[in-house]
Amino acid sequence: MKKLFSGIQPSGVPTIGNYVGAISQFVEMQHDYESYFCIVDLHAITSPQDRLKLREHTKLLAAIYLASGLDPNKATLFIQSEVPAHAEATWMLQTISYMGELERMTQFKDKSQKASKKEGIPVGLFTYPTLMAADILLYNADIVPVGDDQSQHLELTRTLAQRFNHHYNEIFTLPETKLPEYGGRIMSLQDPTKKMSKSDENQRGFISLMDDPKVAAKKIRSAVTDSDMIVKYDRENKPGITNLLDIYSIFANKSISELETMYEGKTYGDFKKDLGEVIEAFLIDFQEKVNHYLNSEKLDAILDDGRDRAIRVTSRNLEKMHRAMGLGRKQRR
Ligand code: TYM
Repeated sequence: MKKLFSGIQPSGVPTIGNYVGAISQFVEMQHDYESYFCIVDLHAITSPQDRLKLREHTKLLAAIYLASGLDPNKATLFIQSEVPAHAEATWMLQTISYMGELERMTQFKDKSQKASKKEGIPVGLFTYPTLMAADILLYNADIVPVGDDQSQHLELTRTLAQRFNHHYNEIFTLPETKLPEYGGRIMSLQDPTKKMSKSDENQRGFISLMDDPKVAAKKIRSAVTDSDMIVKYDRENKPGITNLLDIYSIFANKSISELETMYEGKTYGDFKKDLGEVIEAFLIDFQEKVNHYLNSEKLDAILDDGRDRAIRVTSRNLEKMHRAMGLGRKQRR
C-alpha cells in the first residue's frame, strides 16, 4: 500500500482554511493509503508559544483529527516531539541543505520579516523546511496532501531526497504533492487577497473550528464581497464570492457548479445567510465530537499507540540514513 504523510502545527486553534485545504483531504485519502497524520509541535515552537497553550492546542488538534473522521484503526495519529527520529533526521538533512535554497522559501521571507521586527530571526525558522522534509522522508511517503502554501516546501523536500539518494544511497521515495481541487488557499473573510490564517489580528478574517457557531455565521454574513450580484466562480474578478464558494462546496458537499445553479437569480445576502447556517450547523455537531474526544480516555491511548507505530517505522529508516552516511559503527546482525 502506498504511504501518505501530512501534519498541522498546534500553534493555535485550526481554522476552516486548515479544514478545507488539509483535513478534508486527509479524511478522504486515509482509506487508500497507509497514512500518518502528525501534530507538528516542533514546527510550532519556531514561533514563540506559551507552554500551557501549546499543550492545550496539541491535545485539541488530536481531538480535531478524530472529530473530523480520521480513524485510528486505519491511520497513525501522533505527536512529532514524541518521535525523536524527526529531530535527528533534520540534523542530517541540514548537512545537505543550502542556505540559498532555504532563503528562497516565501514562508521564511514572510515570517522572518515579522520576527526581525521583534527579537530577531530564530535559526529554527530558517531550517523549518528541513524538519518538514525529515517528517515526510522518514516515512517514505508517496503522497502529501496539503494546501497551496506548502507547495514550495514540498518541492524542497523532493530536491533534498534526490540529493541524498544521489550523494549517499537510494533510500528515499520522492513524494508527490496533493493539493485539493478547490480550496487549496482559503482567503481571509475580510481581505480576499490575503490567506486565511489563525494568527490574523483581525478576528473577523478567519473562522476557527472552535469559534462560537453563531459568531462564525455572523463572520460569514459580514464577509467582504464585490458589489456585483452574481454568484459565479471567478478567482480573478470575484475573489470574495469565489472564496465563499470554495468554503461552501466542502461544508455542504456540493460541487461549485451545483452551487452556482442554486443561487441563480438570488442575492449575495441569500448566499451568505445560507452558508452561515451551513457553517453554524457543522460547527455545533463538530464541536460536540471534539469535546467528546477531549474528555475521553481513548485520546491518550490513541496517541500512545500512534507514537509507538511511528517510532517503529522511523527507527528503521533512521538506521538506513546512518548506514548510508557512515555514521556510528557498523551494526552487527
Ligand atoms: P499549517 O499548520 O500552517 O497548516 C496545516 C495545513 O493547512 C493548510 N492551510 C490552508 N489550506 C487552505 N487555505 C488556507 N488558508 C490554509 N492555511 C493552512 C496548509 O497548507 C497545511 O496543509 N509546515 C506545515 C505543517 C507540516 C507538514 C509536514 C505538512 C509540518 N510537516 C509534513 C505536510 C507534511 C504547516 O505549517 O502547516
